[in-house]
Amino acid sequence: MIKIAPSILAADFTKLGEEINSIKTADYLHFDVMDGSFVPNISFGLPVLEAVRKTTDMVLDIHLMIVSPARLVSDFIKAGGDIITFHVEAETPENIHKAIDEIHTFGKKAGLSIRPDTPAEALLPYIDYLDLILVMTVEPGYGGQDFMEAMLPKISKLRDIIDGKGLNCELEVDGGIGLKTAKLCVDEGANVLVAGVDIFHETNRAAHIEKLRNLK
Ligand code: DX5
Ligand code: ZN
Repeated sequence: MIKIAPSILAADFTKLGEEINSIKTADYLHFDVMDGSFVPNISFGLPVLEAVRKTTDMVLDIHLMIVSPARLVSDFIKAGGDIITFHVEAETPENIHKAIDEIHTFGKKAGLSIRPDTPAEALLPYIDYLDLILVMTVEPGYGGQDFMEAMLPKISKLRDIIDGKGLNCELEVDGGIGLKTAKLCVDEGANVLVAGVDIFHETNRAAHIEKLRNLK
């Protein structure tokens, strides 16, 4: 089954509660944390997450685009995160293992993400312990960028590794996802689709989420 994760980075923050309500039929709510250092842009963090947690029961899919994320994973769980994904490029191998363990100690799901320039192989030391892999299909930092088709072989390679090892690990894609690019990713084995602009520019968001879920 394909899961849809609308990214609230593309929502109207003057009415965030209503915006979240408009996408409640989706599977996850994707929450992009940017620190102005790991990526050039700054988005939102813990106080906003606490507010979001109060307004919805949706599964909160946290995408940390921050340096040294291990020191903050517990804070993002306490603020309401359900799936905590951070970047393999942002931590030492030792801290990556520690952070994954810590997330699991809280009974939450652990994900690792890779930037476009990072090969799939960078995930291999951790893959047996992950609940989710997030393949960036744009350079992280901004919504509304064009999908990078060059990422498709990486998605397919990771799907083969996950299935070959019989892992229970979701394969999520993020950046430039719309009906056409979603289909390309699903054909290569992605099963969770993050979409920001593509969902939030629609008036009937529930209908669009359904279309993304049932790609032909
Ligand atoms: C980019 C973020 C994405 C972003 C996707 O760094 O990680 O989650 O919101 O936005 P769209 O779907 O508009 O490309
Ligand atoms: Zn994201």
